[in-house]
Amino acid sequence: MEKEMIIVLDFGGQYNQLIARRVRECNVYCEVHPYSMELEKIKEMNPKGIIFTGGPNSVYADGAPRCGKEIFELGIPILGICYGSQLMSYVLGGSVKTAPVSEYGKTEVEVNKDSVLFSDVCEKTICWMSHTDYIERAPEGFQVTAHTPVCPVAAMENAEKQLYAVQFHPEVMHTQEGMKMLSNFVYQVCHCKGDWRMESFVENTIRQIREKVGKGKVLCALSGGVDSSVAAVLLSKAVGKQLTCVFVDHGLLRKNEGDEVEAVFGPEGPYDLNFIRVNAQERFYGKLAGVEEPERKRKIIGEEFIRVFEEEAKKIGSVDFLVQGTIYPDVIESGLGKSAVIKSHHNVGGLPDYVDFKEIIEPLRLLFKDEVRRAGLELGIPEHLVYRQPFPGPGLGIRIIGEVTAEKVRIVQDADAIYREEIARAGLDKGLGQYFAALTNMRSVGVMGDERTYDYAIALRAVNTADFMTAEASQLPWEVLGVVASRIVNEVKGVNRVLFDCTGKPPATVEFE
Ligand code: XMP
Repeated sequence: MEKEMIIVLDFGGQYNQLIARRVRECNVYCEVHPYSMELEKIKEMNPKGIIFTGGPNSVYADGAPRCGKEIFELGIPILGICYGSQLMSYVLGGSVKTAPVSEYGKTEVEVNKDSVLFSDVCEKTICWMSHTDYIERAPEGFQVTAHTPVCPVAAMENAEKQLYAVQFHPEVMHTQEGMKMLSNFVYQVCHCKGDWRMESFVENTIRQIREKVGKGKVLCALSGGVDSSVAAVLLSKAVGKQLTCVFVDHGLLRKNEGDEVEAVFGPEGPYDLNFIRVNAQERFYGKLAGVEEPERKRKIIGEEFIRVFEEEAKKIGSVDFLVQGTIYPDVIESGLGKSAVIKSHHNVGGLPDYVDFKEIIEPLRLLFKDEVRRAGLELGIPEHLVYRQPFPGPGLGIRIIGEVTAEKVRIVQDADAIYREEIARAGLDKGLGQYFAALTNMRSVGVMGDERTYDYAIALRAVNTADFMTAEASQLPWEVLGVVASRIVNEVKGVNRVLFDCTGKPPATVEFE
């Protein structure tokens, strides 16, 4: 058990893991648990503080997630955020109402600087609001510590009982001094020491995996990408040769990538791993023949992956556990949190209903990408691998719009290799979040050497992003784009046009499907 931790109780809001991550950024360990967690369990965990998340409900709605009074009497500091603040008010006898004007977006909030929560925060500070209900009157014993022109209780506290509540969201970037407020809660209210580091995550995860796996055998789905590489090395540290890494070359990898992955994780590489490479190109192309619909393609690729792993597991014999490098944004976007399904990331939502393993282990499931990278460095994985740009599990399958064929894979691989080469040559690779070529399903008329052509258009994508949940299109220099475009049309047979994707996420997504 972690020595010093904060728990986040999840009332169904969108930013639950983000809150946990912000607390971890304060060097305090933090976990998210369901709001219904029993008081006994909470006491056992002995947290230094509890944070109630936001949520979509009104406290008065039928079936709204609620808590009893008792949690406020444990003597553990509590911070309620948005719905969590309204719930605190409601349960402790304040009044919550539908606000005459909903507040949404960046809002100037006037705070009382005498509150420890706002120590070193500007008196007028921009916060992110997103609410329809509001606290009309704080419960007895509470002091109002912030307001806006339309929200009389934007924050309240009962400092003696260590209960704090904010109507806005301190965890999102738009709340300019939100980190300061969370850090004030963690350090000045909960009196944390802040001695948690990524190394503690690594150590604890290794210990937990050992306990779970015992003498069992484990199979790791290794793609060579950052997430599964970190998961593989983590597992290998935990259970050594009980682990076998299976790398499936599904024919949807980047140019030469299969050999590159084998060079790192195979017998010639620096890790002492059981490594199996399965060349399954034809099998995947066969399953994908004639399929155009993006979600179907994702599900087919996800399912086929699992079937290959199951077959490999049978060959090894008595494998109980399957390891995947799923990370938090995969979970959220696949709709396994409470958000809408955007696309089935194949590590998660793309899994078939039936999976023939006793258990799936996803040690990175609660981490964001940059946290995974920190864990990777902690595990001694070389920087060039840790900072590789992400590559999706379904690979080029979701960068070829419409039906996948071996010929289209060849086109997109060659175009992408040229793009990556030129980006690196221009010294731009370290500054970009992700960049790749995709094959549009569009053919158009061109002219080459006086001849008419009717060939495919390649789309180039480059984005900057902190967490891959949102992204903006990178502004690449025209000189570089010009070189890339002319090399692609000259060197890649079947392409006569190159487009650049200027869309952000939202409204687009990073990948094309
Ligand atoms: P999207 O397209 O959802 O991509 O905006 C966000 C990030 O996730 C990666 N991605 C995936 N990763 N399995 C993965 O492991 C998947 O199915 C998948 N789909 C998208 C994408 O490359 C980007 O970094």
